[in-house]
Amino acid sequence: MAQKGQQLKTFKEGKGTKTVFTLNTGDKMPGVGLGTWQSKPNEVREAVKHALQSGYRHIDTALAYGNESEVGDGIIDSGVPRNEIWLTTKLDNPWHKRVPEGIASSLKDLKTDYVDLYLMHWPSSTDPDDLKKSYTDWNFIDTWREMQKLVGTGKVRNIGVSNFDQENLEKLLAADSTTIVPAVNQIELHPNHPSPKLLKYNQSQGIHSTAYSCLGSTDSPLYKDKTLLELAEKKGKTPQQCMLMWGLQRETSVIPKSVSPKRIDANFELDGWELTDEEMQTLSSLKDRFKVCGDGWLPAGVKVFFGNDE
Ligand SMILES: NC(=O)c1ccc[n+]([C@@H]2O[C@H](COP(=O)([O-])OP(=O)(O)OC[C@H]3O[C@@H](n4cnc5c(N)ncnc54)[C@H](OP(=O)(O)O)[C@@H]3O)[C@@H](O)[C@H]2O)c1
Repeated sequence: MAQKGQQLKTFKEGKGTKTVFTLNTGDKMPGVGLGTWQSKPNEVREAVKHALQSGYRHIDTALAYGNESEVGDGIIDSGVPRNEIWLTTKLDNPWHKRVPEGIASSLKDLKTDYVDLYLMHWPSSTDPDDLKKSYTDWNFIDTWREMQKLVGTGKVRNIGVSNFDQENLEKLLAADSTTIVPAVNQIELHPNHPSPKLLKYNQSQGIHSTAYSCLGSTDSPLYKDKTLLELAEKKGKTPQQCMLMWGLQRETSVIPKSVSPKRIDANFELDGWELTDEEMQTLSSLKDRFKVCGDGWLPAGVKVFFGNDE
């Protein structure tokens, strides 16, 4: 594991669907994964199976999505050996005081002995007896201390965080109990929420950034962005493919969600072409801003986004 105080690095190799990111632990994570948030029952099993049979080797899920069991079934149905698949899941907020139980529940539902990456879903330690309240005697630093204990049990190959702004990451890294630097920070990243400062900060700490809602999520306003549509048309690619390529070329992994076999396939057509520096710049310079995942739904007083991560 990547110990605090070491000079840590994460780097990219390969292009398109062959992109692989070496994490600060030395493990290699495929750059393109299938997202599964909001994938409905009876859809996600088939989606996971189809994606794996079409070449995807990275699946992103979470206890909070309520679909780990179907994701596990999809993996089995695909016939792709477990050791060829990168599987990420996440610890849900009301489980922060129950990390061993959280991972046990995920492993049972996913029908696997280990996950490749276990993320703290949000820096919010929510009281399971009253979801509107946070614990008063526990915070994300305590949760991370407990997550660190999973390393070496064989149940998790890497641990990381999600939805961490620089402020909370600094707090986490400064804590005496923090000995392991997160391998990944999974955050919202798309051309209308590019967060260049946070990306740079993650990189400076040797933390890989995964882009969630990398297409702008459900009913994405980006699908109507004129600049993006023109660029895609000129390129002979879909706007979604252009956004995914933009993400990969910014050295972030991308985890587009789809339950449509056609779109799952199209989102994986990323080989043999790239965006030029100028095209990258164009997509990085879109003026509109929106955020898919805010923090208003978390218990009062929980500060997750500090407004400087756009
Ligand atoms: N850590 C976190 O807190 C967090 C938060 C949000 C998301 N995530 C992860 O990131 C993943 C991706 O984010 P997301 O689900 O918010 O959204 P997304 O991947 O940005 O967008 C998904 C939406 O785009 C549609 N879509 C996908 N490919 C398309 C294509 N080629 N053409 C047209 N429409 C297309 C999907 O519909 P169809 O399914 O109908 O194709 C769906 O409505 C999630 O699924 C989840 O795994 C993590």
